[in-house]
Amino acid sequence: MRHLISTRDLSAERAIALLDTAIDMVDVRSRDVKKLPTLRGKTVANVFFEDSTRTRLSFEAAALALSADVTTFTTQGSSVSKGESLKDTLQTLEAMGADFIVLRHSHSGVASTVANNKWVDARIINAGDGTHEHPTQALLDAFTMRSRLRGVDARGMDLAGISVVIVGDILHSRVARSNAFLLTTLGATVTLAAPQTLLPREIDGWGVTVVSTLDDALESQPDVVMTLRVQKERMSSGFFPSESEFSTLWGMNDSRLRRLPSTSIVMHPGPMNRGLEISGSVADSPQSTVADQVSNGVAMRMSVLYTLMGDSR
Ligand code: ASP
Ligand code: CP
Repeated sequence: MRHLISTRDLSAERAIALLDTAIDMVDVRSRDVKKLPTLRGKTVANVFFEDSTRTRLSFEAAALALSADVTTFTTQGSSVSKGESLKDTLQTLEAMGADFIVLRHSHSGVASTVANNKWVDARIINAGDGTHEHPTQALLDAFTMRSRLRGVDARGMDLAGISVVIVGDILHSRVARSNAFLLTTLGATVTLAAPQTLLPREIDGWGVTVVSTLDDALESQPDVVMTLRVQKERMSSGFFPSESEFSTLWGMNDSRLRRLPSTSIVMHPGPMNRGLEISGSVADSPQSTVADQVSNGVAMRMSVLYTLMGDSR
């Protein structure tokens, strides 16, 4: 594997190997010396055309933990304002020595355009392309589910027998797409719950079922409820009547949490709109994995960088 563009490209075997390597990376991160020399002399360029806190900083932490040098590009303050193209920007970063390009961009499909057209020789990791995919988020989510529901050392295990409800703004969510593909590949059962206006049209090939209310979805006592941020920045018109109506019908709140088994977990990729798709008390409850997801993100991204490096040797 040279690039990581989409979770559709991952077989179950490959995905499990990435999750297993992340267990080793958690171990590295718990040592006194939290570093491996794997990427010494290599440069990871974080190229972010869209805002990010978790993904950008965790790729930076992951690259540093593997002894890479890190360059960070953000649009603000760059020559993009002078009209420089994406291709020229990436080739400029490669000319400065980038071996890996971690790319976030608002256009769906941009990461595969860069990789397929070989605009650069660097390995490309998709860090979120429009409403399309966010593969490392799905991997860290799968890792979090496996560790919380199957134990921290669940090496070799897939997610068979785990039921996941993904709820909310699925239409605009690259997290939902990448998760639907990866979780079904790993054998989990995935149910989507969203208002009609926030469901994509092309879910036929996703291998998921759709229910029309969150309360129906919770009847089945799922192991995981994955809440999604309402992506207001991608909404040009009204997709629901009001925020309070959305949170009443689709928000994960205390009374809904009480209907789940105490072993079930509630996830959110962040950043959260507290009080809209998830209440503050659910986000802070022991069943919430929000902080775990962030910390697992560093280990998972170490695993991805480590694996891509190894594959290209
Ligand atoms: N941070 C995630 C993403 O960039 C989810 C979100 O922003 O809602 O896709
Ligand atoms: N979950 C996620 O991708 O967060 P950021 O947008 O802050 O990177």
